[in-house]
Amino acid sequence: MRSPRLWSVFRPLVRKQFDVIAPTWDTLRGPDSFAPFERALDAVSPPPARVLDLGTGTGEGALAIARLYPEAEVLGVDLAPAMLAEAERKTPPELRERVRFEQGDASALDQPDATFDLVSHANMIPFFDEVARVLKPGGQALFAFSMGAGTPIYVPAERLRSELGRRGFTEFAEFAAGNGTALLARKGDRS
Ligand SMILES: C[S@@+](CC[C@H](N)C(=O)[O-])C[C@H]1O[C@@H](n2cnc3c(N)ncnc32)[C@H](O)[C@@H]1O
Repeated sequence: MRSPRLWSVFRPLVRKQFDVIAPTWDTLRGPDSFAPFERALDAVSPPPARVLDLGTGTGEGALAIARLYPEAEVLGVDLAPAMLAEAERKTPPELRERVRFEQGDASALDQPDATFDLVSHANMIPFFDEVARVLKPGGQALFAFSMGAGTPIYVPAERLRSELGRRGFTEFAEFAAGNGTALLARKGDRS
C-alpha cells in the first residue's frame, strides 16, 4: 500500500497464496462474515449503477451487491485466477448479465477515471489513489472487515478517514455488525 516497489515483490506471492486457498476459501467463512459489508451496503445512496468490488475473491461481495441492487452492473476484480474461477462457478444464471469477474491489480486498475458509483472492499488491502481515481464525484467507497481489528487484513477507521480525507472524501459513516466493522465514505463532488 505504501511502497509500489515492495508490492511488485509481494504481488506474485499474494496471488499464489490465494490461488492455493481458493477451493476451500468459502468453508473458512463464518455465518456472519459479510454482516458488516451488508450493513454498510444498505446505507449506500443513491442505488449504484456501476460497482467495482476489489479483491473480490470468490465473489461473495460482488454477488451480494448484485442481489441488493437489481439495476447495478458489478465488476469483481482479483489478482488470483483460482479465486475468480470460484466466483464464476458460484454466479447464478440470472446474475450473469450484470456480474463480471476479471483478473487485475487494485494498485493499477485498467478502468478509466470516474467510472464507478461504488467501489467496495471486503477484507482487502485498500489502494487509496486508485479508489479515488476510478470513483465518480459523489461516488462511495466501502471497506468491511469481517472480524474488525482481528481481521488478518485490517485498516483502522481513523487511518481510512485520514487517507480518504486527503483525497477529497467528505462524508464518513461507520458500522458494526456480527463480529466486524465497516466504513462508508463519499468522494466530494469536486474532487
Ligand atoms: C482476504 S481475501 C478476501 C476475499 C473476499 N473479498 C472475501 O472477503 O471473501 C483478499 C483477496 O484480495 C485479493 N488481492 C490481494 N491483493 C490484491 C490486489 N492488489 N488486487 C486485486 N486483488 C488482490 C486476493 O487474491 C484475495 O482473493
